[in-house]
Amino acid sequence: MTIKTETTEGVARIEIARPEKKNALTVAMYQQMADAIAAAHEAPTVRAIVIHGQADIFTAGNDLEDFMKNPPTGMDAPVFRFMLALGMAEKPVVAAVNGAAVGIGTTLLAHCDLAYCADNAMFSMPFVSLGLCAEFGSSLLVPLAAGYHKAAEKLLLGEPMSAEEALEMKLVNRILPPNEVLDYAIKQARRFNNLPPTSVRETKRLMKAGWKSVTEKIIADEAQTFARMLKSAEAKEAFSAFFERRKPDFTQFS
Ligand code: COA
Repeated sequence: MTIKTETTEGVARIEIARPEKKNALTVAMYQQMADAIAAAHEAPTVRAIVIHGQADIFTAGNDLEDFMKNPPTGMDAPVFRFMLALGMAEKPVVAAVNGAAVGIGTTLLAHCDLAYCADNAMFSMPFVSLGLCAEFGSSLLVPLAAGYHKAAEKLLLGEPMSAEEALEMKLVNRILPPNEVLDYAIKQARRFNNLPPTSVRETKRLMKAGWKSVTEKIIADEAQTFARMLKSAEAKEAFSAFFERRKPDFTQFS
């Protein structure tokens, strides 16, 4: 079981549980996470959702092998189903990040309501170095949170971010010791048990309403561009280099 789910005291937990592959996300895992969000949405007793990995890893992002074999072809692909379910979730979503949060692992934080990370967390959005482009609204939401120039270092140059930098860039709310992050995220999520659920949902909707339609447009553009670039020679070189454990050579491209 690579995605584990458990609901206790009004909180639906979604654990990415494939530590032997650094929680790299396959199509099947996206499907399970999308289903888990839908189930949490349907369950009247669930007030909030928590997404997490283990003490030393959140996720290495897309499983590169699986992604090349099963590239997303349209908006009904599992990765879209998951990100759309997350982006449109009416109930609050809390992320607890330990260790690496690569690619979609960082992108998804922009769609969560609250995000807590460990001091061992390391974030990155290496889409350009993979011959790809930003995804799921990150080309809008990251500059919006952090400012254009800071976002350019992270999205164009693919520079990694420490926990402190992620806090400064407003991608997370708070940094905690690694063994406290999940408990704290769950504690915060449980606070929604004592709040009026309609007020929470409506306030969340209103907070996102200002940039909802522009986010949807950007996501569609990113999706088309990403799908096209996934088939490119630049991406092939980047992906082969990862599995051959060598540096990619982009000097051949113009
Ligand atoms: N896709 C597929 N497999 C992955 C993976 C990914 N995104 N990330 C890690 N793995 C696999 C490795 O191939 C390795 O498998 P093996 O033991 O069968 O050889 C295993 O997970 C452990 O990874 P490793 O790189 O040895 O761990 P690490 O602790 O040294 O580094 C990361 C952890 C996350 C920093 C590193 O694995 C990494 O950079 N992964 C790629 C991230 C990436 O580019 N993601 C795509 C974003 S779109």
